[in-house]
Amino acid sequence: MNVLVCGGAGYIGSHMVAELIENGHDVVVFDNLQKGHKEALLGGKFYKGDLRDRQALHRVFNENKIDAVIDFAADSLVGESVQEPVKYFENNIGSTVNLLGAMKEHGVKYIVFSSTAAVYGEPENIPIVEEDKTFPTNPYGESKLAVEKILKWCDNAYGIKYTALRYFNAAGAHISGKIGEHHNPETHLIPIILQVALKKREKIMVFGDDYDTKDGTCIRDYIHVSDLANAHLLALERLMSGNDSKIYNLGNGKGFSVKEVIETARNVTGKEIKAEIAARRAGDPAVLVASSDKAKSELGWKPKYDSLETIIETAWIWHKNHPYGYC
Ligand code: UFG
Repeated sequence: MNVLVCGGAGYIGSHMVAELIENGHDVVVFDNLQKGHKEALLGGKFYKGDLRDRQALHRVFNENKIDAVIDFAADSLVGESVQEPVKYFENNIGSTVNLLGAMKEHGVKYIVFSSTAAVYGEPENIPIVEEDKTFPTNPYGESKLAVEKILKWCDNAYGIKYTALRYFNAAGAHISGKIGEHHNPETHLIPIILQVALKKREKIMVFGDDYDTKDGTCIRDYIHVSDLANAHLLALERLMSGNDSKIYNLGNGKGFSVKEVIETARNVTGKEIKAEIAARRAGDPAVLVASSDKAKSELGWKPKYDSLETIIETAWIWHKNHPYGYC
């Protein structure tokens, strides 16, 4: 099939492009390169453009016979979203609304949308299941939840079938070592820890050790980026064989504390990795762990890189060989 990947030059998007190509699909990438990197594309036909630019979007649909769309294009920093809610609502909601408008006009009926664990806010149960209450505690999560609702109404009105995938903590890098995580500025735990291992930073600041968890630090569910990408492909195949729109969590179902992640990285890298306890970061829930049973049973999804060691090993190979990312 011919798949349009919006935000395909970003961290998760570029791994999606790789997954599609490895499985023999044709890919068209649309990315404004604000956060993405053209060098992250292992193939596909590239269009530089912004989803808020309707003309640019129509050009892509006019010039290519698109069978389905996968949408990663979004701003995704929780802290920034609290400071700049309008930016998040305008970009994350506005972009996808434009995309849905173009899909409607060009008769494209399938979309896989990248949602987030942030739609749940402070979870009521661990592990979190898809039916748990959604109560985002920041505009980023709110913007993704709003799009999930918009998708439902577009399905209802136009028959556009969707799968929304709520990711937990995406981590790791492609097994080839060719592509990986490069954000500027970097805010995520594993890349920052590995930058300390590479002596690009002096220490990792641990945001809070007074949470109600086994060692006082926050617990997260880390999921390999290529396993995430594979779930998108399975979701697309399921939609295209005539199934209904659905929402799935994607995680490994195992929680690791910040201290455990640092310790695992010390073992994987053989480096000291200095850590210092700092204040809590606003808006961080103590524990986020997914139940992905629904994705496993309905999509037949089976994560390949489900140990934290392997996830960090793949990230380490990427960071060691690309200390300055794609620069
Ligand atoms: N952390 C530190 N020090 C750092 C960076 C992070 O202690 O320098 C901690 C955070 O406080 C958190 C954990 O490491 O407890 C993971 O933090 P990340 O920033 O790597 O990831 P988040 O859990 O904050 O964010 C992820 C996704 C978001 C998504 C969110 C849902 O990256 O897109 O989960 O809550 F919205």
